[in-house]
Amino acid sequence: MSRPPVLEIAGDDSQQKTSPYNLTPTETENLETVAEAWKHVIRDVFSTRTDPNIHTNAEDNSGRTVDNVNIKTTLQSCSNGGGPAIYGDSEVVPNNSNGGGGKTTSVLKPSPSVGISLENLLEVPIGSSGKNGGAENGSGMSMMDEAWEQLSRSYVYFKGQRVGTLAAIDTGGETLNYNQVAQQYAVTPYISCFSSGVRIQVFVRDFVPCGLACLMKTDADVDIVKNFLLKTLHLQGWEKRIDNFTLGEGVMPASFKVIQDPDRQKEVLQADFGGTAIGRVAPVDSGFWWIILLRSYTKCTHDYSLSELPEVQRGMKLILNLCLSDGFDTFPTLLCADGCSMIDRRMGIYGYPIEIQALFFFALRCARQLLKPEHDGKELIERIDKRITALSYHIQNYYWLDFTQLNNIYRYKTEEYSHTAVNKFNVIPESIPDWVFEFMPLRGGYFIGNVSPARMDFRWFLVGNCIAILSCLATPAQATAVMDLIEERWADLIGEMPLKIAYPALEGHQWRIVTGCDPKNTRWSYHNGGSWPAASIKTGRPQIAKRAIELVEQRLAKDGWPEYYDGISGRYIGKQARKYQTWSITGYLVAKLMIENPSNLLIISLEEDKKIAKPKLTRSASWTC
Ligand code: GLC
Repeated sequence: MSRPPVLEIAGDDSQQKTSPYNLTPTETENLETVAEAWKHVIRDVFSTRTDPNIHTNAEDNSGRTVDNVNIKTTLQSCSNGGGPAIYGDSEVVPNNSNGGGGKTTSVLKPSPSVGISLENLLEVPIGSSGKNGGAENGSGMSMMDEAWEQLSRSYVYFKGQRVGTLAAIDTGGETLNYNQVAQQYAVTPYISCFSSGVRIQVFVRDFVPCGLACLMKTDADVDIVKNFLLKTLHLQGWEKRIDNFTLGEGVMPASFKVIQDPDRQKEVLQADFGGTAIGRVAPVDSGFWWIILLRSYTKCTHDYSLSELPEVQRGMKLILNLCLSDGFDTFPTLLCADGCSMIDRRMGIYGYPIEIQALFFFALRCARQLLKPEHDGKELIERIDKRITALSYHIQNYYWLDFTQLNNIYRYKTEEYSHTAVNKFNVIPESIPDWVFEFMPLRGGYFIGNVSPARMDFRWFLVGNCIAILSCLATPAQATAVMDLIEERWADLIGEMPLKIAYPALEGHQWRIVTGCDPKNTRWSYHNGGSWPAASIKTGRPQIAKRAIELVEQRLAKDGWPEYYDGISGRYIGKQARKYQTWSITGYLVAKLMIENPSNLLIISLEEDKKIAKPKLTRSASWTC
């Protein structure tokens, strides 16, 4: 089924109603503006910048404001392939106690495919992006073609229908077709998914980029997305019990798999709600991703009949009820256990991690568009509105760190009790880690990892910052500042591939106490400073996306689409990275599809909601009193 063009309501899309009748006729004009603006930006980049190491701003060069371009790209990690580790080269075995070292400048090799595809964009009409394109993978096949082929191998079937994708199909070089994969893993359910290299589960969060790629392709493949949404909704309805304790009704699974029931001689689904995960933590992010993907599906297809189904409305409400219930909270943020999101092992992100708060905000705004006001819907919508306002105020004020704010915190007074307290969480300046002072550029800023009483986690976390930009939780000024930071700290945050999941890595004593000596999360590896292939970026600076994709195209396909990379510069294929990781493959596809066809950006991004109260970013005055 091919999809109709994506339409965007002019201005504030939080006001979009769930019914198509509310769409205004001027929407296509918006799309044309986006496409036009994009073309100018590309032209500017090509006419003004030949050295990929020179940082330029398209806006600066062109004098144009391209705020509405909303360039988002899913960045891919890459590094220089299976060669031996060369110590003494720019990539040194990480041993950097303050985490700020290893500042290597990566010299980008020209990547003709990117140049060509971007130049072509000037001539290519919107919507003409097909399955081809991208760099070659070394065997003459384009990377895009290979990625589509790999994606088709990962499909998981249930009763003859595609319901999701395997997380990874690392067959050690052996090629299997998807039927073989489906059969092999459906009939031998209890194989060790880790030792086989094939992860037979469909992870909810991993499916999101797959679903987006399917929605964004020219001949949109919408059925798999719909099946996935309905199947996971069905699993939400299961009783979720871990030992003698039952989880909340709205909890969505972290993953599910299709197994062959030998007694009943038929395929059945088996879901995990965290009970079999490391640390037995429920995935707080799954429900949010589900709502976000539902909105993308609706935006792309205009098929409102799915989101308006009573069971779909109920599923959304159950997810939201988990998060909006009154309790002991004094903050609008969600209290979480360690390992409840993409970082699904202990990494010191317990409390109020930015990733979950940004996803929460994103899901609230998506649900706001999809919920029908009938029955109890109106009351829920009011609660959502209040929470959106409170949450954005809290995050934009208290999580934001830039040079000025860091200086303010550094001079904070402590033990302030009254309402007039400036240092609201009683953060003791001595708890600011040394590395932040070095890391913080004069230009740029980011949302820190966590804020709770006397505890600010100053680490950079990729997903939270990118989701904050995509969902407009970040103000336009903050979104710009995050991009400034990435440019200013390119060597630290990107190095040889985009992009560090967390920075800096925990080492030594801190690694021991915070991760519990986790051998998988050693410094600069996996979740602890490793580089992962998926990061969404929304900015009017396509040159950043271009540079990132150049890096990707140099390595990712040649390396067999690994899950993640290790090292300060992210040069080495991750120690335990699975190959043919589906989200590495689809992250690349989504990046290319968005960069080649800017209208695809609207499928995942939200426009700014002008009605959300803007915080006054008051700078601390405590030190002047
Ligand atoms: C790892 C990642 C997690 C992902 C899973 C499947 O556990 O940390 O985020 O969902 O692999 O790929």
